[in-house]
Amino acid sequence: MRVLLLGKNGQVGWELQRSLAPLGELVALDRHSTLPDGGCGDLNNLDGLRETVLRLRPDVIVNAAAHTAVDRAESEPEQARTANALAPGALAQASCEVGALLVHYSTDYVFDGDGTTPWSEDAATGPLSVYGQTKLEGEQLIAAAGARHLIFRTSWVYAARGGNFAKTMLRLAQERDRLTVIDDQFGAPTGAELIADVTAHAIRQTLREEARGGTYHLAAAGETTWNGYARFVLEAALVLKPDLAIKAREVAPVPTSAFPTAARRPLNSRLDTARLRENFGLTLPDWQHGVRRMLAEIL
Ligand SMILES: NC(=O)c1ccc[n+]([C@@H]2O[C@H](COP(=O)([O-])OP(=O)(O)OC[C@H]3O[C@@H](n4cnc5c(N)ncnc54)[C@H](OP(=O)(O)O)[C@@H]3O)[C@@H](O)[C@H]2O)c1
Repeated sequence: MRVLLLGKNGQVGWELQRSLAPLGELVALDRHSTLPDGGCGDLNNLDGLRETVLRLRPDVIVNAAAHTAVDRAESEPEQARTANALAPGALAQASCEVGALLVHYSTDYVFDGDGTTPWSEDAATGPLSVYGQTKLEGEQLIAAAGARHLIFRTSWVYAARGGNFAKTMLRLAQERDRLTVIDDQFGAPTGAELIADVTAHAIRQTLREEARGGTYHLAAAGETTWNGYARFVLEAALVLKPDLAIKAREVAPVPTSAFPTAARRPLNSRLDTARLRENFGLTLPDWQHGVRRMLAEIL
């Protein structure tokens, strides 16, 4: 079996390089990759993407690449749309041509964030930002192309590799006496490791049983706010490393309006993951589990 991975160096892409390797021959590309006989891994090059798929004829295509700069997308909507909507659409068409299963990632930002109920896959969408709109259009173009697909909507992704919220909080808490962190956005921090492992598991089952394809919500269990997340990071870090020079005595709760950003974010990012757990027989660990592991890696 041959698996094509796009976006190999992103948070999720990096972990997919590990979790997809046992499935078969893995061809992993980033935006700068080119194939010797033509084709590339650049989402901005739609013809190049198609050529890549037609040349490699993979059994599975996993697209972990995306325009993820949520605030920047507001000022460069065309670039965001090409990467988040047109490229997945082109991949879906090419998937149909070679009979590949397309695996793609989307986001809680397709919702408007109203209320407190966790969003089911069938709930009405209403993106608040260019990023959310373009990710939603990507989902729609994949469905319209008629490709066999798995789309995982996830939330608040972190990884040990690269910058992340926990690292920022740990740095600020060593520099300042007081942190202020938003306490009115609710969701579940979800590790790239978990997303990658669930992806590999779901691919295996969907290849055996096509009816399992579709859209799924994939997030760690439980919920918190960015403020609760920050508090947990500091507490868990001190348990792991008691001599850590944390100066901050307080993580003050503030509303989203205290930190104006170019893009609006949903207040309710809770995702109902029942469909994923039931269809694939999976247990999703509490969000604290993965965050603790990530802290143990970075401290
Ligand atoms: N991060 C989150 O909190 C979050 C939440 C919900 C859903 N998601 C979704 O989950 C998926 C994975 O996200 P992530 O957190 O792993 O994102 P990430 O760490 O930002 O990685 C995205 C990758 O896409 C690459 N990329 C951007 N533009 C590209 C282009 N034109 N051609 C090829 N590659 C390009 C980036 O490469 P460069 O580094 O070279 O730019 C980067 O390696 C995405 O679909 C995202 O929308 C993420």
